[in-house]
Order: sequence, then structure tokens, then C-alpha cells
Amino acid sequence: MSVVQAAAKVYNTFHAPVAQLDQSIWLRTRGSGVRVSPGAPFFAVSFSQFLRLSFFCSDRMSAETALASLIEDLEQDRSLEEPRLLRQRIEALDDLDAFLSCAPVGQPIATTLLHRAKAIYSRLEFVNLSLYKSIRRNIQRGAGRASLLEWMPDGNDASKLANSRGYDYLDELISGVLQFEEPSAEVVQLESEMIAYQPTPARHIFDFIRRTALTEGDFPIDLGSGLGHVTLMASICTRANCTGIELEPSYVDCARKSAQPLNLNTVRFIQGDARTADLSHGTVFYLYTPFNGSILREVLNSLRQEAVKREIRICTFGPCTRVVAEEQWLTAIEPLETDGIAIFRSYY
Ligand SMILES: C[S@@+](CC[C@H](N)C(=O)[O-])C[C@H]1O[C@@H](n2cnc3c(N)ncnc32)[C@H](O)[C@@H]1O
Repeated sequence: MSVVQAAAKVYNTFHAPVAQLDQSIWLRTRGSGVRVSPGAPFFAVSFSQFLRLSFFCSDRMSAETALASLIEDLEQDRSLEEPRLLRQRIEALDDLDAFLSCAPVGQPIATTLLHRAKAIYSRLEFVNLSLYKSIRRNIQRGAGRASLLEWMPDGNDASKLANSRGYDYLDELISGVLQFEEPSAEVVQLESEMIAYQPTPARHIFDFIRRTALTEGDFPIDLGSGLGHVTLMASICTRANCTGIELEPSYVDCARKSAQPLNLNTVRFIQGDARTADLSHGTVFYLYTPFNGSILREVLNSLRQEAVKREIRICTFGPCTRVVAEEQWLTAIEPLETDGIAIFRSYY
């Protein structure tokens, strides 16, 4: 069995229980939190992270020898202190994490190596924290657009990324910049057709922002906005007036707490049910499959009524795309993306 096959096996085995979860769990890795829900369409940990993890854990290689060689490489590679090299730093941190958490039984890692690993870990984390802090400062003084858009993958990268699953270094960046609080463990019981919280991966949010080209005349509304990733990023990166509507009060509270210290005044979060919410000002509606079945039907009917009054765009992510694509009053404005963000325009 190749290392890749072995990693795929570990990955699938580890994730199999996710499909069988009967309640959401909150996973946290260095600054980024994600709630993994029953039947979650995306996984919390990237495949490459698992690949490295299983490689390091394979008994073909002594953990200590491999760690020593990794440490030497990282100690010599001062380029990792370059703020722009976030992806490489995150990969290095993932590698160190993998070692520090998975040394094979009976192969204790020498204390000096552990100290050196921890020193590199702190140094790289410090660079990341400084980067997040400087972007936050720019946002606070109203100059955040350029410093966040700098991280937007370009068109070619975006299409490559749009077809890959899971979270990556951009999610770390967004968590570090937006500094979400962990919501309370007590969450309202969702109805059977409602989908539990999971954030849109950041690269797809960038893709949404790039392809919708929102202007100050736009009023994007995220229906089922969770902690507010999409709404907050759209508000920082564009001049549009952004709204998030979310059923769960503790998520709304967290989203407001993220927006407030950033001095964002074109964003608001409303606690409520998308079925009864006021949609009359929206021009662009975003749905990361917040519900399905009859609830999705009811909300699509409301959106259709809005579309009779003015042209609207509907952006979807996840399984609801297939349902929305069937609507006769909508047309996909680009070849339909089923793995990434799909954008539809109403016509009457
Ligand atoms: C898959 S998450 C998407 C979160 C966010 N839009 C994003 O992309 O990062 C779906 C969210 O919809 C919310 N939700 C489910 N049913 C809802 C409803 N009827 N009205 C408002 N929010 C709802 C859930 O609480 C959850 O936070």
C-alpha cells in the first residue's frame, strides 16, 4: 500500500464517524474553529494534512530522525518569516503538530528536539499573529479592503481551488483576522430540514466576492449566516451593504462581536428565520445549503416574489445548488459549478 493509499485509508477511517454523528462537535485547530455536523458535506481537516500525518507516523521512518531533519530544515529556512509565506508556515506548523501529537509508542522524542520544535512553533505562530494583527489594524482604520484582497487567489488559482474540498491556510488567515469567539455549547434544536453550522471555506468566499463584483448599490444577504464569515468578508472587501440572517442567537452574537472591534459599519446581523425574514432590500442572496426540502422550497418562493419586483442574483454552495438550478425563473450566469459557488440571475 502506498503512502497516499495509506493516508486515504486513515482519512476515510477517521472521517467515517462524522457521517454517523448525531450531534455537532466543535473542532479547534490553532485559532480556527469549525463545527462538524452530522452528514457534513466538507471535512474539517485537509487531505494534505492527513497525508503528512500518516507519512510521519508510518513505522518506516523513525519519528525522531524525521523530526530532527524537519527541525533542521525549518531552522535554516528563515524565508518562513516572510509574512506573505503564510501557506508554507501553516504547512510547517501542521508538520510540527503531526509530530508533537503522534510520536509512535516506544519512540519517545528527545527533550532537546522537543524544545527546538516548540521554539520554531512559537516563532512561526508569532509571524502569523503579527500578520493577522496588521490586517486587523488596516480594517479598523477603514483600509482593510486592499490588505484582505491581496490574499484573494487569482482567477486561475480560484478555479483550481474551487474544485478541492476542505479548509486550508486561507481559513486560518480569516479566523486569525476576524477572531471569532467560540459560540456557546447550547444551540437551538434545528428542525429536521435545517442544516447545522459549517462555514464556507475562505477560498470559496473569495471566489464569491470576485465573481459577484459587488458594488455599493448591492445588498447581499447571507441566508443562514452562521458566525458571519461570508458577510464579514464581503463587507471588508467591497462597498456593499451586507446582511447576515441566522436562526441561532449565539452565532449572531459571535458575528456581531467580530464586526464591532473592526469598526465595520456596512454590516449587520439579524437573528431570525429565513422563511419569515424581510428580504425586500436584498440584491444578492447567498445560500450555503442552510436548509433543504420544504424549507428551501418556501424560501425560494419568497425569493421568486422578490425577483418579480427587481432583478436579483442567487449564489449557492453545496447540495442546494442542484435544487436551485431547477428553478425556471433563474439562469446560471456561468457554466454551473456544482463543487464551488454557483451564481444565478433572475429574469422576468
Ligand atoms: C451550512 S451553514 C452556513 C453558514 C454560513 N452561511 C457560511 O457559509 O459560512 C447553515 C446555517 O444556516 C442556519 N440556518 C438553518 N436554518 C435556518 C433558517 N430557517 N433561518 C436562518 N438560518 C438558518 C444554521 O443555523 C447554520 O448556521
